Amino acid sequence: MSAQRPEAERRMTPRRIKARKGGEPIVCLTAYTAPVAEILDEVCDLLLVGDSVGMVLHGLPNTVGVTMEMMILHGQAVMRASRRALVAVDMPFGAYEGAKETAYANAVRILKETGAQAVKVESGPAVAETIAYLTRRGVPVIGHVGLRPQAVLADGGFRAKGRHGNEYACVIAEAKAASDAGAFCVVVEGVAEGLAREITAAIDVPTIGIGASAGCDGQILVTDDMLGLFDWTPKFVRRYADLKGEIARAARAYADDVRSGAFPAAAETYFAVVKG
Ligand code: KIV
Repeated sequence: MSAQRPEAERRMTPRRIKARKGGEPIVCLTAYTAPVAEILDEVCDLLLVGDSVGMVLHGLPNTVGVTMEMMILHGQAVMRASRRALVAVDMPFGAYEGAKETAYANAVRILKETGAQAVKVESGPAVAETIAYLTRRGVPVIGHVGLRPQAVLADGGFRAKGRHGNEYACVIAEAKAASDAGAFCVVVEGVAEGLAREITAAIDVPTIGIGASAGCDGQILVTDDMLGLFDWTPKFVRRYADLKGEIARAARAYADDVRSGAFPAAAETYFAVVKG
Protein backbone atom coordinates (compact mmCIF):
# COMPACT_ATOMS: atom_id res chain seq x y z
CA MET A 1 0.00 0.00 0.00
CA SER A 2 1.39 3.46 -0.89
CA ALA A 3 2.06 6.12 1.76
CA GLN A 4 -0.76 8.61 2.44
CA ARG A 5 -0.65 11.82 0.42
CA PRO A 6 -0.56 15.13 2.36
CA GLU A 7 -4.04 16.44 3.28
CA ALA A 8 -3.83 19.36 0.81
CA GLU A 9 -3.51 16.86 -2.06
CA ARG A 10 -6.16 14.45 -0.86
CA ARG A 11 -9.73 14.46 -2.08
CA MET A 12 -12.21 16.37 0.07
CA THR A 13 -14.25 14.11 2.37
CA PRO A 14 -17.75 14.36 3.87
CA ARG A 15 -16.11 14.79 7.29
CA ARG A 16 -14.07 17.80 6.11
CA ILE A 17 -17.13 19.37 4.44
CA LYS A 18 -19.12 18.90 7.67
CA ALA A 19 -16.33 20.52 9.69
CA ARG A 20 -16.68 23.71 7.62
CA LYS A 21 -19.99 24.57 9.37
CA GLY A 22 -19.86 28.30 10.17
CA GLY A 23 -16.31 28.54 8.76
CA GLU A 24 -14.78 29.16 5.33
CA PRO A 25 -17.64 29.16 2.76
CA ILE A 26 -18.00 25.87 0.87
CA VAL A 27 -17.63 26.33 -2.91
CA CYS A 28 -19.74 23.97 -5.02
CA LEU A 29 -20.74 23.72 -8.68
CA THR A 30 -22.47 21.13 -10.81
CA ALA A 31 -20.39 19.03 -13.23
CA TYR A 32 -21.53 16.43 -15.73
CA THR A 33 -18.60 15.89 -18.11
CA ALA A 34 -14.89 15.11 -17.83
CA PRO A 35 -13.43 18.28 -19.45
CA VAL A 36 -15.56 20.63 -17.35
CA ALA A 37 -14.97 18.63 -14.16
CA GLU A 38 -11.21 18.89 -14.72
CA ILE A 39 -11.44 22.70 -14.86
CA LEU A 40 -13.81 23.06 -11.89
CA ASP A 41 -11.90 20.60 -9.69
CA GLU A 42 -9.14 23.20 -9.23
CA VAL A 43 -11.45 25.67 -7.47
CA CYS A 44 -14.33 23.72 -5.96
CA ASP A 45 -14.68 21.90 -2.64
CA LEU A 46 -17.59 19.86 -3.96
CA LEU A 47 -18.70 18.89 -7.48
CA LEU A 48 -22.32 17.80 -7.75
CA VAL A 49 -23.31 15.50 -10.59
CA GLY A 50 -26.81 16.96 -10.37
CA ASP A 51 -29.86 15.42 -11.99
CA SER A 52 -30.20 18.87 -13.59
CA VAL A 53 -28.04 17.08 -16.21
CA GLY A 54 -31.33 15.90 -17.70
CA MET A 55 -32.42 19.48 -18.44
CA VAL A 56 -29.00 21.02 -19.08
CA LEU A 57 -27.42 18.39 -21.36
CA HIS A 58 -30.28 16.16 -22.48
CA GLY A 59 -32.99 18.75 -23.15
CA LEU A 60 -35.58 17.23 -20.78
CA PRO A 61 -38.35 19.57 -19.50
CA ASN A 62 -37.59 18.67 -15.85
CA THR A 63 -35.60 16.12 -13.83
CA VAL A 64 -38.35 13.51 -13.52
CA GLY A 65 -37.16 11.51 -16.55
CA VAL A 66 -33.55 11.20 -15.39
CA THR A 67 -32.43 7.58 -14.90
CA MET A 68 -29.87 5.76 -12.75
CA GLU A 69 -27.92 4.95 -15.92
CA MET A 70 -27.62 8.65 -16.82
CA MET A 71 -26.41 9.54 -13.31
CA ILE A 72 -23.87 6.72 -13.30
CA LEU A 73 -22.49 7.57 -16.74
CA HIS A 74 -22.01 11.24 -15.87
CA GLY A 75 -20.72 10.38 -12.39
CA GLN A 76 -18.03 8.17 -13.93
CA ALA A 77 -16.95 10.95 -16.29
CA VAL A 78 -16.66 13.49 -13.45
CA MET A 79 -14.75 11.08 -11.23
CA ARG A 80 -12.24 10.29 -13.99
CA ALA A 81 -11.39 13.96 -14.42
CA SER A 82 -11.31 15.18 -10.81
CA ARG A 83 -8.93 14.42 -7.99
CA ARG A 84 -9.43 16.92 -5.15
CA ALA A 85 -13.10 17.97 -4.91
CA LEU A 86 -15.67 15.74 -3.20
CA VAL A 87 -17.93 14.32 -5.91
CA ALA A 88 -21.59 13.77 -5.01
CA VAL A 89 -24.11 12.18 -7.38
CA ASP A 90 -27.84 12.92 -7.29
CA MET A 91 -30.15 9.96 -6.79
CA PRO A 92 -32.74 10.33 -9.54
CA PHE A 93 -36.51 10.52 -9.02
CA GLY A 94 -37.86 7.06 -8.18
CA ALA A 95 -34.55 5.66 -6.94
CA TYR A 96 -35.02 6.28 -3.19
CA GLU A 97 -38.58 7.32 -2.26
CA GLY A 98 -39.94 3.76 -1.97
CA ALA A 99 -38.52 0.95 0.17
CA LYS A 100 -35.38 1.84 2.17
CA GLU A 101 -33.73 -1.36 0.94
CA THR A 102 -34.20 -0.25 -2.69
CA ALA A 103 -32.77 3.18 -1.87
CA TYR A 104 -29.75 1.48 -0.27
CA ALA A 105 -29.20 -0.82 -3.27
CA ASN A 106 -29.39 2.15 -5.67
CA ALA A 107 -27.07 4.32 -3.53
CA VAL A 108 -24.52 1.51 -3.28
CA ARG A 109 -24.73 0.97 -7.05
CA ILE A 110 -24.00 4.67 -7.65
CA LEU A 111 -21.05 4.70 -5.23
CA LYS A 112 -19.55 1.43 -6.53
CA GLU A 113 -19.99 2.16 -10.25
CA THR A 114 -18.88 5.81 -10.17
CA GLY A 115 -16.38 5.90 -7.29
CA ALA A 116 -18.10 9.08 -6.01
CA GLN A 117 -17.95 9.93 -2.30
CA ALA A 118 -21.63 10.72 -1.62
CA VAL A 119 -25.18 10.75 -2.93
CA LYS A 120 -27.77 13.53 -2.69
CA VAL A 121 -31.49 13.02 -2.09
CA GLU A 122 -34.30 15.57 -2.14
CA SER A 123 -35.45 15.28 1.43
CA GLY A 124 -39.21 15.69 1.61
CA PRO A 125 -41.12 14.58 4.71
CA ALA A 126 -40.91 10.85 3.98
CA VAL A 127 -37.20 10.65 3.21
CA ALA A 128 -35.53 11.30 6.61
CA GLU A 129 -35.97 7.68 7.63
CA THR A 130 -34.23 6.59 4.42
CA ILE A 131 -31.35 9.02 5.05
CA ALA A 132 -30.90 7.42 8.50
CA TYR A 133 -30.99 3.93 6.95
CA LEU A 134 -28.34 4.87 4.37
CA THR A 135 -26.01 6.76 6.70
CA ARG A 136 -26.11 3.98 9.32
CA ARG A 137 -24.90 1.64 6.57
CA GLY A 138 -21.96 3.80 5.50
CA VAL A 139 -23.50 5.82 2.65
CA PRO A 140 -22.61 9.53 2.95
CA VAL A 141 -25.77 11.53 2.14
CA ILE A 142 -26.50 15.16 1.26
CA GLY A 143 -30.07 16.37 1.86
CA HIS A 144 -31.92 18.88 -0.33
CA VAL A 145 -34.81 20.99 1.02
CA GLY A 146 -36.88 24.01 -0.03
CA LEU A 147 -37.57 24.00 -3.76
CA ARG A 148 -37.25 20.33 -4.67
CA PRO A 149 -37.07 20.06 -8.47
CA GLN A 150 -38.12 16.38 -8.46
CA ALA A 151 -41.45 17.48 -6.89
CA VAL A 152 -42.25 19.58 -9.97
CA LEU A 153 -45.27 17.46 -10.93
CA ALA A 154 -46.77 17.55 -7.44
CA ASP A 155 -45.99 21.27 -7.00
CA GLY A 156 -47.22 22.24 -10.49
CA GLY A 157 -43.95 24.01 -11.41
CA PHE A 158 -40.71 25.31 -9.89
CA ARG A 159 -41.72 27.61 -7.02
CA ALA A 160 -39.69 29.31 -4.31
CA LYS A 161 -40.58 27.71 -0.96
CA GLY A 162 -41.37 28.81 2.58
CA ARG A 163 -43.08 32.11 1.81
CA HIS A 164 -46.17 31.18 3.87
CA GLY A 165 -46.32 30.26 7.55
CA ASN A 166 -47.11 26.58 7.17
CA GLU A 167 -44.58 26.00 4.39
CA TYR A 168 -41.91 27.95 6.34
CA ALA A 169 -42.20 25.60 9.31
CA CYS A 170 -42.21 22.54 7.00
CA VAL A 171 -38.95 23.52 5.30
CA ILE A 172 -37.22 24.03 8.68
CA ALA A 173 -38.56 20.66 9.88
CA GLU A 174 -37.32 18.92 6.71
CA ALA A 175 -33.84 20.41 7.06
CA LYS A 176 -33.68 19.40 10.74
CA ALA A 177 -34.92 15.90 9.92
CA ALA A 178 -32.26 15.47 7.21
CA SER A 179 -29.52 16.72 9.52
CA ASP A 180 -30.70 14.63 12.49
CA ALA A 181 -30.87 11.58 10.20
CA GLY A 182 -27.16 11.92 9.45
CA ALA A 183 -26.88 14.00 6.25
CA PHE A 184 -23.41 15.63 6.29
CA CYS A 185 -24.70 18.80 4.61
CA VAL A 186 -28.02 20.06 3.27
CA VAL A 187 -28.69 21.91 0.00
CA VAL A 188 -31.25 24.68 0.55
CA GLU A 189 -32.88 25.81 -2.69
CA GLY A 190 -35.19 28.70 -3.53
CA VAL A 191 -36.00 30.15 -0.11
CA ALA A 192 -35.97 33.71 1.25
CA GLU A 193 -32.99 34.97 3.24
CA GLY A 194 -34.71 34.86 6.66
CA LEU A 195 -35.62 31.21 6.27
CA ALA A 196 -32.16 30.27 4.95
CA ARG A 197 -30.56 31.93 7.99
CA GLU A 198 -32.97 30.23 10.35
CA ILE A 199 -32.23 26.79 8.84
CA THR A 200 -28.48 27.46 8.95
CA ALA A 201 -28.75 28.36 12.64
CA ALA A 202 -31.03 25.41 13.40
CA ILE A 203 -28.98 22.52 12.01
CA ASP A 204 -25.58 21.15 12.98
CA VAL A 205 -24.32 20.53 9.45
CA PRO A 206 -23.47 23.05 6.69
CA THR A 207 -26.18 24.47 4.44
CA ILE A 208 -25.34 24.87 0.75
CA GLY A 209 -27.52 27.58 -0.77
CA ILE A 210 -28.86 27.90 -4.30
CA GLY A 211 -31.20 30.86 -4.54
CA ALA A 212 -31.10 30.92 -0.76
CA SER A 213 -29.11 34.12 0.00
CA ALA A 214 -25.71 34.61 1.59
CA GLY A 215 -27.07 33.19 4.85
CA CYS A 216 -25.82 29.67 4.07
CA ASP A 217 -22.51 27.95 4.84
CA GLY A 218 -21.74 27.45 1.15
CA GLN A 219 -23.09 28.13 -2.33
CA ILE A 220 -23.83 26.07 -5.41
CA LEU A 221 -24.94 27.05 -8.92
CA VAL A 222 -25.65 25.07 -12.06
CA THR A 223 -22.37 25.64 -13.92
CA ASP A 224 -24.00 26.07 -17.33
CA ASP A 225 -26.23 28.83 -15.87
CA MET A 226 -23.33 30.82 -14.45
CA LEU A 227 -21.32 30.37 -17.66
CA GLY A 228 -24.13 32.04 -19.64
CA LEU A 229 -25.15 29.07 -21.81
CA PHE A 230 -28.87 29.80 -21.46
CA ASP A 231 -30.96 32.84 -22.43
CA TRP A 232 -33.10 32.55 -19.31
CA THR A 233 -31.82 31.87 -15.82
CA PRO A 234 -33.46 32.32 -12.41
CA LYS A 235 -32.99 35.65 -10.57
CA PHE A 236 -30.43 34.17 -8.18
CA VAL A 237 -27.91 33.24 -10.90
CA ARG A 238 -24.95 35.54 -11.49
CA ARG A 239 -23.45 35.14 -14.98
CA TYR A 240 -19.68 34.99 -14.94
CA ALA A 241 -19.29 34.42 -18.71
CA ASP A 242 -21.21 34.57 -21.97
CA LEU A 243 -20.39 31.13 -23.38
CA LYS A 244 -23.53 31.04 -25.51
CA GLY A 245 -22.36 34.20 -27.29
CA GLU A 246 -18.78 32.86 -27.55
CA ILE A 247 -19.94 29.54 -29.05
CA ALA A 248 -22.25 31.31 -31.51
CA ARG A 249 -19.39 33.65 -32.56
CA ALA A 250 -16.95 30.75 -33.01
CA ALA A 251 -19.46 28.64 -34.98
CA ARG A 252 -20.25 31.62 -37.26
CA ALA A 253 -16.52 32.27 -37.91
CA TYR A 254 -15.96 28.55 -38.69
CA ALA A 255 -18.96 28.44 -41.06
CA ASP A 256 -17.73 31.60 -42.85
CA ASP A 257 -14.22 30.11 -43.24
CA VAL A 258 -15.52 26.78 -44.60
CA ARG A 259 -17.79 28.56 -47.09
CA SER A 260 -15.04 30.94 -48.24
CA GLY A 261 -12.39 28.20 -48.48
CA ALA A 262 -10.25 29.84 -45.76
CA PHE A 263 -10.46 26.65 -43.65
CA PRO A 264 -8.56 24.36 -43.72
CA ALA A 265 -5.33 26.16 -44.63
CA ALA A 266 -1.91 24.57 -45.24
CA ALA A 267 -1.10 24.62 -41.50
CA GLU A 268 -4.17 22.48 -40.85
CA THR A 269 -3.44 19.97 -43.66
CA TYR A 270 -1.44 16.70 -43.71
CA PHE A 271 0.94 16.31 -46.65
CA ALA A 272 2.39 13.02 -47.83
CA VAL A 273 6.07 12.49 -46.99
CA VAL A 274 7.78 11.80 -50.30
CA LYS A 275 10.59 9.27 -49.84
CA GLY A 276 13.63 9.92 -52.03
O1 KIV B 1 -29.50 18.86 -9.84
C1 KIV B 1 -28.88 19.86 -9.46
O2 KIV B 1 -28.10 20.47 -10.20
C2 KIV B 1 -29.08 20.30 -8.09
C3 KIV B 1 -28.53 21.63 -7.71
C4 KIV B 1 -29.33 22.68 -8.36
C5 KIV B 1 -28.42 21.81 -6.26
O3 KIV B 1 -29.71 19.64 -7.32
